[in-house]
Amino acid sequence: MRAALVTGGTAGIGAATAEALQAAGYRVAANYGGNQQVAEAFTARTGILAFQWNVADLAACEAGVARVQAALGPIDVLVNNAGITRDAVLHKMTAGQWKEVLDVNLGGCFNMCRVVIEGMRERRFGRVINMSSVNGLSGQAGQTNYAASKAGLIGFTKALALEGASRNITANAIAPGYTDTAMVSAVRPEVLDQILKAVPSGRLARPAEIARCVVFLASDEAGFITGITLSINGGKYLA
Ligand code: CAA
Repeated sequence: MRAALVTGGTAGIGAATAEALQAAGYRVAANYGGNQQVAEAFTARTGILAFQWNVADLAACEAGVARVQAALGPIDVLVNNAGITRDAVLHKMTAGQWKEVLDVNLGGCFNMCRVVIEGMRERRFGRVINMSSVNGLSGQAGQTNYAASKAGLIGFTKALALEGASRNITANAIAPGYTDTAMVSAVRPEVLDQILKAVPSGRLARPAEIARCVVFLASDEAGFITGITLSINGGKYLA
């Protein structure tokens, strides 16, 4: 039975992913950044252990992964899902808003991969799945920080795919469209209405629709798929 760790795994796409991996037979742990109440409710509902640390902090990732591995054993599947928005048009964006988003969304992926990669190389198996976004492919007004971080994840994923291939470590990105989560609910309703008009499917994605693709990319059967970006966006952007 393989072990999987999902960052930002107690809510939204991350929670759906942790649950889908559990249903597929993995031993699963979920990392979360701060909302203990949500994490406790998630664990009570699913039985999936939740561990708090900030993925933007390398030392915290090292300590957090050590705790997870003590509970689950070596991490075979890493899902870098933790992500934040600090939306503002560039002429109003602060350096703090830029840095915070890059540190969590892109820096968090580096930190987590750096911590688990040596074990994956030794065991000659690994699955890394990075949660990018349609907005990393298409751009989105108000998201220079977020779009840069999500586009950065795609380049990171391709480079890691090349490094890992000979050791049976795959790295892939998923680029969800607008999904029914708290992150999207935070967008002003009139702005979200406009965005939804540009989705040919005419609706938000369901978190489970993203999660099932993570499970597929994590599977042994997907071992020849590496370095790709899988778009799941209802036709909003055809890369
Ligand atoms: N295209 C082009 N220009 C736009 C624009 C758009 N879609 N939206 C806003 N602008 C321009 C406005 O015309 C305006 O220009 P001027 O100053 O020249 O008049 C300027 O940007 C400021 O616009 P606002 O008055 O709306 O500025 P604001 O500060 O009140 O709000 C904002 C800015 C918070 C970024 C708001 O526009 C917004 O929420 N936009 C949506 C951002 C978005 O889609 N976020 C996705 C979050 S979900 C997510 O990220 C998950 C995922 O992966 C998909």
